[in-house]
Amino acid sequence: MTSNISFMNGVKSLRDIDVEGKKVLIRVDFNVPVDSNNNISDDRRIRSALPTINYCIDHNACSITLVSHFGDPKGGYEEKYSLKGVRKRLERLLNKKVEFVEDLDASKDEIAACSLERVFLLENIRFYKGEKKNDEELSKKLASICDVYVNDAFGTSHREHASTHGITKFVQTKVAGFLMMKEVEAFAKALEEPVRPIALVVGGAKISSKITLLEAVLKKVDKLIIGGAMSNTFLKALGYDMQDSLFEQDYVQTASQVLQHARENGVKIYLPVDVVITDSIEKPIDVKVVPAQDVLEGFKAVDIGPATVKLFSEAIELSNTIIWNGPMGIYEIDKFSKGTFKIASAMGACYAYTIVGGGDTADAVDKCGESENFSFISTGGGASLELLEGKILPGFQNLDRKIEVN
Ligand code: 3PG
Repeated sequence: MTSNISFMNGVKSLRDIDVEGKKVLIRVDFNVPVDSNNNISDDRRIRSALPTINYCIDHNACSITLVSHFGDPKGGYEEKYSLKGVRKRLERLLNKKVEFVEDLDASKDEIAACSLERVFLLENIRFYKGEKKNDEELSKKLASICDVYVNDAFGTSHREHASTHGITKFVQTKVAGFLMMKEVEAFAKALEEPVRPIALVVGGAKISSKITLLEAVLKKVDKLIIGGAMSNTFLKALGYDMQDSLFEQDYVQTASQVLQHARENGVKIYLPVDVVITDSIEKPIDVKVVPAQDVLEGFKAVDIGPATVKLFSEAIELSNTIIWNGPMGIYEIDKFSKGTFKIASAMGACYAYTIVGGGDTADAVDKCGESENFSFISTGGGASLELLEGKILPGFQNLDRKIEVN
């Protein structure tokens, strides 16, 4: 049987086609982390797309249109989700003029007719209602401005949207960019012939979208280490009163099931034994460490505690393949960053094959200076979990293939 990884490895890449004189549309993932002033705090996702963009420039593509989402707007213009700031950073990194396309409808004929070498960046594609609906009309519109479609948005390749999936029905030549292929290669090493034990470390605040994946992932891993806001839902499932902590009441039952199935499958689960709690996230005055079952009234858990760091670090040290997705606490705030940074250091120091995935987690690893010590830094968070789950990601599904698979 063909695995999802070998299916994805079988798609054509940019290197397999000729882009000279062609209008190329590249779906990139410029959904970069930003600070409270909306400044880009980590431009890894932009830098990771440069090899694909530069290849098209160097091979004389006639126009290059970059398409990305940024954040999760409701489907109309929202200033804070504009890609204007990203355009500035991109111009600096490319050392080339990047023309900003605010309105696809107004500019599509100009792009379609373009015969000179120009680089365009389209405003946030999620400002168009059709994007998340995988709408045919938007897919066709995007297809109408290119001869070649390149998907290099690994971080968004688990989404079946117009610019990641729908468009492939209307473009003749559609291939993967270099980042997509590099990511699959790195995960192939971790998942095709893994050196066991395999540990999955999950955290972060995107609880509802990740927790449902954990059940399927149980069949692939030996240890599941859960921290961050994700663990609050699990601690709640154990019957602890999490007080004002962030957790998803609607998924407490799912968390119970994951715990039960982990026991049945012999997967060892690690949950926080102590947590850092605070009276306020914005203006923390009272911050203390308490056992996980003793969160005080009016307080919220915002990081894992020192005993948990020790417990998780030992589990990490005894693993041979580790995939990490989601921070252990609110690492953007100094007081609540210790758990995430110490886990990053533990992973950086161990001898396992280590992959860290997701914008925030990669940013955290970078901030504590551990990036160099990881085997691979993935640009995909949710995408890497779905890959681990065994899915063929929609962003790869309809791309041209090198060899046909039955
Ligand atoms: C991510 O940051 O995980 C990707 O860019 C996908 O974003 P999404 O979860 O908003 O679809």
